[in-house]
Amino acid sequence: MGRLQKLPPYLFAALDAAKRRAREAGVAVVDLGIGDPDRPTPPELIDVMARAIADPACHRYPAQRGDMVLRTAIATWLQRRHGVAVDPATQVLVLLGSKEGLGHLPVTCVQEGDNTLVPDIGYPVYGQATILAGGEPRTFHLTAANGFRPDLAELDALIDDRTRLLFLNYPNNPTGATADPVFWRQVADLCARRGVTLVNDAAYLEMSLDGGAQPCLLATADATKERVIELHSLSKMFNMTGWRVAFAVGHPELIESLGRVKDTMDSGVFTAIQRTAAYALGPDFERLLAGVAEPYRARRNRLVATLEQAGYEIFPAKATFYVWCRVPGGEGSAAYCQRALAEIGVVVTPGTGFGTGGEGWFRISLTASETDLEEGARRLAGWR
Ligand SMILES: Cc1ncc(COP(=O)(O)O)c(C=O)c1O
Repeated sequence: MGRLQKLPPYLFAALDAAKRRAREAGVAVVDLGIGDPDRPTPPELIDVMARAIADPACHRYPAQRGDMVLRTAIATWLQRRHGVAVDPATQVLVLLGSKEGLGHLPVTCVQEGDNTLVPDIGYPVYGQATILAGGEPRTFHLTAANGFRPDLAELDALIDDRTRLLFLNYPNNPTGATADPVFWRQVADLCARRGVTLVNDAAYLEMSLDGGAQPCLLATADATKERVIELHSLSKMFNMTGWRVAFAVGHPELIESLGRVKDTMDSGVFTAIQRTAAYALGPDFERLLAGVAEPYRARRNRLVATLEQAGYEIFPAKATFYVWCRVPGGEGSAAYCQRALAEIGVVVTPGTGFGTGGEGWFRISLTASETDLEEGARRLAGWR
């Protein structure tokens, strides 16, 4: 079978079609499914972008692996925000979104017959990119009993001499689970002992909903010595999903390999966007971020209060703009979400969209207007 044929079907396709049909039938659909910020990029960043876009120097091919101004801003930001020292020239690579970096990572190291470890529940790109590179994704479990963190013994048992990458994602989509330095040390030690490269998808790192920064992998593992790589993104940080700018930071050999793959695949991020990203990560970072994160915190608190009062069980998440809820009454996730759309016009995402481990759960995204979130919560609260 060809690699493309091995890709699993798009699990959200059925839900998308059902959503379209409901709208066509005149149902006032409240869409709490998609994880894409409804709010605009901060106006200050739009102004920086507007100035940059008028500069002809931005109109040429960009610095492919990232302009040194941005790479230096990233290194300075990492030091200031997370206490991590990295060399901007050899340990930082600018990406066209973290999805692009995650998609290309297996190309750097996975040969036919190799495998990677991917979480079930998880973002589908890790496994699919592994398949496209000719490898086999091996899934490990994330369970409520473990706070949606992996069981290290299970990981150890799955690793063999063809295991190249372990993908983790904290703060986690879809559960909102977070990591801590003790956990990071344990996983980094396991990977070092077994010769596996550790990847953390940190797309939601700055979407901390209860104050204070979440601990990143790089604050624990030393990326100058250990084979670790972390992917950060401005997409969720600054409501910039459409802009496509992110960055990888890690061991110099991993950054060089990913850079080499990218040299073939793309020509870098538009220079005007790179300039805006450098500004966003600069001295005003915390102020800009507060304006983005605060509305999610308020939305989360209101939604969770309504649903808990109605008897829903919700995973107590500290980060991300998702709310992870247990399906009431033991119903299957897909059936419950289909019924929610058909009977009360509310779109929520079945946990099984993220793997079989999501059975029994559903995800609500906070990236909808206050009005929609209130209406959605009201409808869910008065229904089973
Ligand atoms: C867990 C996770 N990682 C990565 C991404 C990709 O983000 P981007 O490519 O916009 O940086 C997403 C997007 O939804 C995500 O949910």
